[in-house]
Amino acid sequence: MRYSLSFLALAAPLLASAAPAQFLGKRAASDILVFKFADVLEQLESSFYQQAIAKFQDADFTAAGFPSSQIPIEQFKSIQADEATHSTVLQAALKSFGETPITGCQFNFDSALTDVATMAATARVVESVGVSAYLGGATLITDPVLLTSAGSILTVEARHQTILNVLSSSGTAIPAAFDFALTPSEVLALASPFITGGCDIPIPANTPLSLTNTGTVAPGTKLTFSATSLNGTVPDDQLHCQMLLGGSSMSIALPMSECVVPEGINGPVAIWVTSDNQPLLNNVRDRATTKVVAGPALAFIDTQPQMLGQLARGSGSGSGSQSQATSPTTRTISPAEASSVIASASGAAPAAPTSTDAPGASAQSGAPSNGTANLFTGKSPDGKITVNGWTGL
Ligand SMILES: *[C@@H]1O[C@H](CO)[C@@H](O)[C@H](O)[C@H]1NC(C)=O
Ligand SMILES: *[C@@H]1O[C@H](CO)[C@@H](O)[C@H](O)[C@H]1NC(C)=O
Repeated sequence: MRYSLSFLALAAPLLASAAPAQFLGKRAASDILVFKFADVLEQLESSFYQQAIAKFQDADFTAAGFPSSQIPIEQFKSIQADEATHSTVLQAALKSFGETPITGCQFNFDSALTDVATMAATARVVESVGVSAYLGGATLITDPVLLTSAGSILTVEARHQTILNVLSSSGTAIPAAFDFALTPSEVLALASPFITGGCDIPIPANTPLSLTNTGTVAPGTKLTFSATSLNGTVPDDQLHCQMLLGGSSMSIALPMSECVVPEGINGPVAIWVTSDNQPLLNNVRDRATTKVVAGPALAFIDTQPQMLGQLARGSGSGSGSQSQATSPTTRTISPAEASSVIASASGAAPAAPTSTDAPGASAQSGAPSNGTANLFTGKSPDGKITVNGWTGL
């Protein structure tokens, strides 16, 4: 845990002191609801990263294209600690208001933890949902001090989002000049598939919507969907898809049969299915919800991959990656191999490998005492070169 006791001791009274003392315990119902809901999302996020970190081995990360598992794990651990801290502080605040936080939710992330590429892509969605949820919650919070407290979490969720964009390899670190807000019911359409029970969330969820496209979704891709509410109740010719981008005043509305991703999109897109052709407003207070059949779903349309992502993740191994491998590749070699390369380059015959060539078997190397240690640094077995980090995997 990255927070200290003194931080918690400070944070809780800070939140509790949001109103004059005589109003303590008499919080607006909407403020309470937003804090309770935000805490459930934080629990979901924290649990997701805990399970992901526990499940995957170093080799799973390198198979997904990361040059080192430490690059993503360092970030996932840091993000997980933030989410756990957010939950702890939100719960402390709720208790100081005389409220009981929502606990006991059971989460199931099996569908997202099949492999590292899917997990990293899901983490990216989860953080984007976090940003949209806090933005949407801002409309509902009446107390300006509580609004600022929630805003101080929102900015950190946005930093998580940026890091996950970078770790996705094909993403743009900061893809757009604006984010978009979602209502709690819309957020639940995205989160509820991971919540299997154990808690009572007093907010109706929109019907979850899934994209059924396989492979990369890009401009020109025709989107296809599944949802329990797409069952023929609304005739197909009345169904429309709605794509909302940050910064636009309303969604792009298209008949379902022509639901093709337009050019000029980069980054997260929220997608609904509606029973009419009226665009949805980019305004959570006034957005019409009566014609929503399902959604939103959230997709990343990555049209501007950046060098930073390719550096962090490599290219080609990520789910949905469209990047071309243009950078030189590197391969990790063992100290014994390194000596051979040096020796052959200098014209001297390399020494025949023997069992004592194993790293660490060499007395002068100061290396670990077996051949499988990770990140060996020291003299090569013949002492000719210094090796800076070799992994035996
Ligand atoms: C079919 O979809 C409608 C909404 O469009 C919903 O009210 C109804 O419950 C759904 N029926 C089934 C069997 O899922
Ligand atoms: C090899 O050494 C490392 C570091 O001392 C240790 O963590 C690892 O368990 C050892 N492996 C075997 C197979 O003995």
